Amino acid sequence: MAKKNIKEIKSKILSMLAEHYSDFKIRKECLSLIHEGQFANAAVFRYKDDNNLDITIKDFSGSPWIIRNTLGKIFINIEGHSMIKLSDNPSVTKGVVFLSPYTVAFNFIEGKAIKEFSHGEIPKEFFLTLEENVKKMHKRNIVHLDLRNLGNVIMSKEGYPYIIDFQSCISTKHLPKKLRKILRDSDMTGVYKCWKNRCSEPLDKEREDFFNEFQKIRKLWVLRGYPLHRFVKHLKEKLSHK
Ligand SMILES: Nc1ncnc2c1ncn2[C@@H]1O[C@H](COP(=O)(O)OP(=O)(O)O)[C@@H](O)[C@H]1O
Ligand SMILES: [Mg+2]
Repeated sequence: MAKKNIKEIKSKILSMLAEHYSDFKIRKECLSLIHEGQFANAAVFRYKDDNNLDITIKDFSGSPWIIRNTLGKIFINIEGHSMIKLSDNPSVTKGVVFLSPYTVAFNFIEGKAIKEFSHGEIPKEFFLTLEENVKKMHKRNIVHLDLRNLGNVIMSKEGYPYIIDFQSCISTKHLPKKLRKILRDSDMTGVYKCWKNRCSEPLDKEREDFFNEFQKIRKLWVLRGYPLHRFVKHLKEKLSHK
């Protein structure tokens, strides 16, 4: 499949930035590509100038029309509105601005994803804070659903945990209690997977038991062809977090 036209996307982004950040002089050389993304994924950029504007831009405008106008719009909407709803959560970045129906911008977190650390390199306090902030997110009726991915948790340069990539999250507000609990537990085992893979200390017995118990449920999903996964995918298309 042909590649995205990054030059064209960049030029669109620059004019959107000029419109939405009119207090700043937008300069071409400050915009760089972080991650191109396949057609059904966003292209991710960073805009950093020496005037305190340091933002991430997630964009679907370079995807084919059919993707841009279905998944693209849905993902941008879910990601932006979830982050706005969670703006009082210390592990969620701020400054969300919708640049277009296919493009959202938010503050860049200086740091690195925990997948880039080696095994046993991160202190326990990091994961305790992450766990606490994931619980806070659940209290606002949002589940992330992609926390098992070690690329979605960033350690800022101050050592604080940040959660990114809210495009797969859903609102649990109208879900049955049992399902809500399963989804929240799924997020929590995501946190514990990160902990097991990167923390300098192992999980304590209570968390380890919780993790193992949930692994049994996950195995069942695999055997049954991920019915929950399909259900969530369907829900994502129905729900937005306005
Ligand atoms: N707020 C942010 N601060 C810093 N880097 C970010 C931020 N959001 C995304 N990134 C970078 O862009 C990459 C892709 O972003 P992500 O939201 O995970 O998209 P994808 O859907 O492609 O996984 C991340 O792995 C990270 O390197
Ligand atoms: Mg990601």
